[in-house]
Amino acid sequence: MAKHLAKRETKVTADHRADNILRMEFTRDWFVEYMEIWPEVFRRHGWDAEEPKSILEIGCFEGLSTCWMLNNLLKHSGSRMVCIDTFEGGREHAHDGTNMTSVRETFFRNVEKTGRTDIVRVLEERSDTGLLRLLQENQEAFDFIYVDGSHLSTDVLVDLVLGFRLLSVGGLCMCDDYLWKGQSDPRHSPKMAIDAFTSIFSEQVQFVPVINTQFAFKRLR
Ligand SMILES: C[S@@+](CC[C@H](N)C(=O)[O-])C[C@H]1O[C@@H](n2cnc3c(N)ncnc32)[C@H](O)[C@@H]1O
Repeated sequence: MAKHLAKRETKVTADHRADNILRMEFTRDWFVEYMEIWPEVFRRHGWDAEEPKSILEIGCFEGLSTCWMLNNLLKHSGSRMVCIDTFEGGREHAHDGTNMTSVRETFFRNVEKTGRTDIVRVLEERSDTGLLRLLQENQEAFDFIYVDGSHLSTDVLVDLVLGFRLLSVGGLCMCDDYLWKGQSDPRHSPKMAIDAFTSIFSEQVQFVPVINTQFAFKRLR
């Protein structure tokens, strides 16, 4: 049964109440700490939420990050957001009792509560399939891509290589769990893939400092 985040007092500030996050249902608060950090990252990047902007999110779970981005980064009615998730969970959810059917329902209820469903497109499929679909559609490039789907390095590498082609020049990409210590085998964590990608694409990306376990870069060309 999903718990209401309002019952969790940890780390939740008045700012988050103001953006209606507490009206949402969440069982995991992975994104709460980033609500404190991301506003400064986006301010430094020159993001203007009042302008039409586009975001691609890979891995949405119950929509905590999705709803925060809708409320805080996409205030213009001409903005758009594409969310890709299998709603089948990752390797790390296989044995932790997560009910992904309920996660999926919670995601759609939460997004509905933002009142922004008209600008959200949800691709319920593997990220590689969804990213190839977007490339084939020749969509306009995205201003921001959040990579937080599968944590397997094989999958993250594909997300980054295909995602890069969908990122606008000057656009920002954020990868979650760069310093994740959840798995002993490094191939089961994003770091190896992020390091490989940024080494290979070193002339096309610029490291953007963020003060937590995430990794961000800007596309240069
Ligand atoms: C860590 S959760 C996302 C958390 C969310 N961004 C937040 O901050 O609240 C990861 C999500 O990625 C999805 N996922 C895992 N592997 C995937 C894949 N290969 N393609 C698409 N989605 C995947 C899972 O179903 C899960 O909902």
